[in-house]
Amino acid sequence: MKKWTILTLFCGVCLAFTTVLHEGEKEEPVAIPASPQRVGQKDKGYQYLTTGDYIKSGIPYNYFLLGFGKSVSNLLKRDSPNNLISQEYTAVKAPNGETVVAPNCLQCHAQVFEDKLYIGMGNSMIDFTDRQKLNARNATMAEAILQGLEMPLGERKERWTAMMKVLERNDITAWRESFVRALTATARGW
Ligand code: HEC
Repeated sequence: MKKWTILTLFCGVCLAFTTVLHEGEKEEPVAIPASPQRVGQKDKGYQYLTTGDYIKSGIPYNYFLLGFGKSVSNLLKRDSPNNLISQEYTAVKAPNGETVVAPNCLQCHAQVFEDKLYIGMGNSMIDFTDRQKLNARNATMAEAILQGLEMPLGERKERWTAMMKVLERNDITAWRESFVRALTATARGW
């Protein structure tokens, strides 16, 4: 009996403790007050944000359209070839001259709401408040990204070619053939 009393008491204390700890943590949204903006060439900045090649490698344009389909909304009203891909991607020229599709800042900094595109601080589909602090794993990822940005052209080409070789080997024909092969193997003996 005593054991149970102590256990109940212990649980009660734990519960009270966590309740107190989380008391001040109510996650109510707060408005960010307007602040003076830096002056500069805002049109040029917007142009770079939505069409710039700050990420220089990605999926070949045609493969991207095959996989993701053509986007018809063209919410950013961008010219070809960006008119066929959604706002969070940008078509850029890879070092080998190929047009590839790379993610852009709007992945996290824009959202479509009631058919309108809002560019700004957030995207409610992604939660950065939970466990997204700088930890060893995130730091390693950030380092890898930065290394990618600094990577010499030769190495970038080498890595891209290696990746493309795998993609080309596993194209739609290879996939279909292996699927049919597996299917035929199963059907044998029927
Ligand atoms: C993977 C998601 C993601 C991508 C991609 C991304 N951001 Fe952010 N960005 C964030 C988050 C999350 C914050 C808020 C960070 C914070 O307040 O701790 C932020 C904050 C910012 C801020 C505000 C910084 C400040 O101190 O007020 C700016 C400006 C910004 N990002 C610009 C960009 C630009 C430009 C790009 C593209 C080159 C970009 N972001 C790409 C997630 C992203």
